[in-house]
Amino acid sequence: MRTPIIAGNWKMYKNVQEAVELTKGLKEMLSSMKGVEVVLCPPFTDLSEVAKVLEGSAIGLGGQDCYWLNEGAYTGEIAPRMLKSAGCTYCIIGHSERRTYFHETNETVNKKVMAALAEGLKPIMCVGETLKEREENRTFAVVKNHVENGLKGVNGNDMDRVVIAYEPVWAIGTGRNATPGQAQEVHAYIRKLLGALYGESVAAKVRIQYGGSVKPENAAEIMKERDVDGALVGGASLKADSFFGIIKKSVKE
Ligand code: 13P
Repeated sequence: MRTPIIAGNWKMYKNVQEAVELTKGLKEMLSSMKGVEVVLCPPFTDLSEVAKVLEGSAIGLGGQDCYWLNEGAYTGEIAPRMLKSAGCTYCIIGHSERRTYFHETNETVNKKVMAALAEGLKPIMCVGETLKEREENRTFAVVKNHVENGLKGVNGNDMDRVVIAYEPVWAIGTGRNATPGQAQEVHAYIRKLLGALYGESVAAKVRIQYGGSVKPENAAEIMKERDVDGALVGGASLKADSFFGIIKKSVKE
């Protein structure tokens, strides 16, 4: 069985003090939580302090992005190796906000996925269609393009470290989540794509998260879908109560 994974993408929220406070609260609330993996993805500037608070807890830490080289004259960029040394085990890659506002492409996403894997990190690779693409019935084509090109060259042996996050762009920060049926349909399709690329047994083990307006109120119904293995949570991960509410509802019986 796949262990669900709930990751909090804090985006560009929380200074160091706020991040430490939120993390302390979550650490306390989650001290006896079983059957679900939890990962926090704060801004880069918070990582080291959050890592200190997380010492001795099962909560994981992730970056929100990384560059594809480990050092060099690339002002403003953060290397996978730096994330590792700051205490990260995960890294979100190819979030739609990065694709939209920072011109990331499947090619750069792929380079980052490969670089993260090479450093021993676990990439959370984001895929998903815009509203326009959904309305034009291009959801499957867009998702196929993101999955196949984002994973180009990734070895089947490394797929146990890859998490895919299906985040329909129209559901992010809009309050309009995909219905459980809409999520399941795309998740099953992604698993089918992975099966064609890596074989059924590898595909059966890859965790596919849903992201887009996940809240405590809708988490249970989305999470009970067969191919939904957790969530990538934005807004609702910024408060301990609401993030905890989602985590509690994500444990599969
Ligand atoms: P919201 O949960 O705020 O819709 O954001 C989702 C997201 O983008 C997580 O990466």
